[in-house]
Amino acid sequence: MGPHRILLLEGIHQIAVETLEKAGYEVQRELTAFSNSELIDKINDFDAIGIRSKTHISKDVFEACTNVKAVGCFCIGTNQVDLVAGNQFGVPVFNAPYSNTRSVAELVISLMVSLSRKIFDRSKKAHEGVWDKSAAGSNEVRGKTLGIIGYGHIGTQLSILAESMGLNVQYYDVIKKLPLGNANSVDGLNDLLATSDFVSLHVPETDQTKNMIGAEQISKMKAGSYLINASRGSVVDIPALAEAIKSKHLAGAAVDVYPKEPKSNKESFSSELQGLENVILTPHIGGSTEEAQYNIGIEVATSFIGYLSKGQSVGATNFPNIDVPVNDSGHRLVNIHRNVPGVLGEINGIVSKYGANINRQFLSTDNSVGYLIIDLDVKDSQSLKSDVVALPTSIRTRLLS
Ligand code: NAI
Repeated sequence: MGPHRILLLEGIHQIAVETLEKAGYEVQRELTAFSNSELIDKINDFDAIGIRSKTHISKDVFEACTNVKAVGCFCIGTNQVDLVAGNQFGVPVFNAPYSNTRSVAELVISLMVSLSRKIFDRSKKAHEGVWDKSAAGSNEVRGKTLGIIGYGHIGTQLSILAESMGLNVQYYDVIKKLPLGNANSVDGLNDLLATSDFVSLHVPETDQTKNMIGAEQISKMKAGSYLINASRGSVVDIPALAEAIKSKHLAGAAVDVYPKEPKSNKESFSSELQGLENVILTPHIGGSTEEAQYNIGIEVATSFIGYLSKGQSVGATNFPNIDVPVNDSGHRLVNIHRNVPGVLGEINGIVSKYGANINRQFLSTDNSVGYLIIDLDVKDSQSLKSDVVALPTSIRTRLLS
């Protein structure tokens, strides 16, 4: 068996190539996306395929490309892949959901300072030849209170950065979270809104977070405070925010995400927030940095190596997750099967038929598939594997040494 072959599409960061090559893999990197028919024609020679957001992997691709063992979305979202079909055909789909955490947190820090000093409005005036030098209404962020809604990956990272600049940090989360540094958890959203100079949103898009900041919540915010949303566009009621800026209840806002966003840089963008005083609008760039792309490249490439060489499926979005130690002796049998009663017994029966000694065994299941890893010592490993492959419940079986 030759080295694992990986196809990377859509100009995935070069660090992914380096990471895979260092592990002894062969890599082909293309700059463009592939169409459905190109995928079916060209990818079955590869063990894994890496894509970004423009390549769509549908059920017929999984059906046709049975040699492809893993798909990597070198981005955050996985909507471009039929995850259910991947699961059904025993193909884990990996992504890198937290590689851009730091990038978002840094953007929010810069937005707080920019809002507090009205930097964007003043810069615009300076570009237009207007000299607007004044300290009135400009403040340091030091000593102010930042209220973070959603104390997850980004919220906690922001918490640490903000504290190091002298802000007092409080947060509200639906789950009880350990406060980092000197941050304080507040019991209710209203408490946070009423006592924060900056409110920054870091919640996911769910039914509960849809318009969670509307006219009523904004009215509870401190007069002269600032709202920042770099989470999801559906979380803030934009007309209500526009109204609060016009009435000067809020001293400013920064928005990176919108209920309706252009699909590409070719489409134009419009928002009720355009032209309002001290409102910073950015085109969903919270996570868009070279560093995030680099981190994504390493993270997904490492997931490929973990899965193809060791059977580790941790981080797979559509597949039972197993984190296994390295197998330093014997063989590792990796089997994906339909999750029906009796499979484990049948496979163990085959193992004992060959007189194999099981060193370790791991099983994890979801509703439709089971993922089984067995480390064993056996003489005729190929015949044992063939017997497992022949089971009607087996979807995919590999032998790693
Ligand atoms: P995460 O899943 O680590 O954290 C989300 C936190 O929100 C969790 O602690 C959760 O318990 C909490 N939460 C959920 N529902 C809540 C509610 N109703 N009220 C209060 N707290 C609630 O997510 P992460 O990675 O921190 O991302 C946060 C948001 O940032 C997501 O919406 C994500 O899509 C967005 N994002 C935006 C980017 C950009 O480019 N602007 C880039 C990356 C992420």
